[in-house]
Amino acid sequence: MVFLIAILTAILFVLIFEKPLKKNPVPFYLIFAGLSLAVVIVNRLGITFEGFLGNYIYPLFSKATLGAGFFVLVMYAVTFKNGSRAIKLLMSLRGELSIIASILTLGHIVAYGITYLSKLLTAPSKMQPIVLIATILSVVMVLVLMPLFITSFKKIRRKMNPLKWKKLQRFAYGFYFLVYLHVVLFNITAALKGSERSIVNVSVYSAVFLWYLICRILKYRSTKNKDLNLNLFRYVSLAIVLLLSVGLFFALKFKTTPKESDAPEEVVASEEPQPEEPSVVDGTYSATALGYEGNITVEIVVKDGEVTDVYFSSYEDDEEYKVYSDDLIKTIKEHPLDNIDTVSGATFSTRGVIKAYEAALKKAGIEKH
Ligand code: HEM
Repeated sequence: MVFLIAILTAILFVLIFEKPLKKNPVPFYLIFAGLSLAVVIVNRLGITFEGFLGNYIYPLFSKATLGAGFFVLVMYAVTFKNGSRAIKLLMSLRGELSIIASILTLGHIVAYGITYLSKLLTAPSKMQPIVLIATILSVVMVLVLMPLFITSFKKIRRKMNPLKWKKLQRFAYGFYFLVYLHVVLFNITAALKGSERSIVNVSVYSAVFLWYLICRILKYRSTKNKDLNLNLFRYVSLAIVLLLSVGLFFALKFKTTPKESDAPEEVVASEEPQPEEPSVVDGTYSATALGYEGNITVEIVVKDGEVTDVYFSSYEDDEEYKVYSDDLIKTIKEHPLDNIDTVSGATFSTRGVIKAYEAALKKAGIEKH
């Protein structure tokens, strides 16, 4: 969903700022660099956002989704029919769009890189194999991106031998493939556990990248065979890709059991009966929710109508993220009635902690602020 918003934002941006971007792109680069820097600062300070801002706006920058939206325009640029308005517009701005996409990705690289690379360097054996592979591939991806990014600047490009520049730019195909793999690897475990957001991510990114591959092959073939009706094949393949993507969505969705679903109903294991009406009764209440890869059970102690203790009675989730969950439980203990948000870099585990805690609160009949 956020990825579709990102693609739409990138298209609108190009349509609105086409002329000033062509004339003087530097102010745009500076604004986007500022946003990326803000992501790093926000991440390091541990600030989290809630609601629309936290669900749709901040991830555009922190998760490189807007950067990916701009990369999509760069990828698709060449696939349009020669002479069309789309190809003229996008090809004339391709360098600038690549630079913007890369700058927008930098915040994500630093913010997520610090967390995952430190794990990779200090305790790789504690990482899930799929996360370990995804992290190593992320390093390769950054190494491929950097020369592509630097050589997209006109000043540098002009100093290069055009043939060498073109050869180097071919690595962009490898980079696009790595981006797709990156998203799938980091989402597949949660998708298989029933996280709606990850299922949507895997399905939507698959559709966008698969259709790109088809369009790129069609464009190549159309240069060899002038009679090929490029637009017709594009639309037919789009319909097929959309069907496949919807199929993938449902295949992933129905692969999971309701218990593993990401929806609030996933809360399981209730020892105490749910009160009919929210009336606070002293006692111990516990609830379980799914974290990243396993169940998290939070227990709360209520005395004189107030939460006096909060702790994990069992933690079967990935140990890798336990440190974030421990921090979060400390925060909850200090401010039991405040609204809290997930922690970037350990979204699924901390979401599980919050869900379990809120379910335990509900059972106790305690309402938050
Ligand atoms: C060239 C560099 C990179 C690019 C283009 C990139 C791109 C992306 C994109 C497009 C997503 C999916 C965002 C969405 O939900 O829509 C993503 C997710 C993710 N990336 Fe990267 N990334 C890069 C580098 C890194 C690095 C260095 C790391 C650290 C190892 C990293 C870790 C992650 C993680 C953990 C997620 C999943 C986040 C979540 O769903 O909560 N990325 N990345």
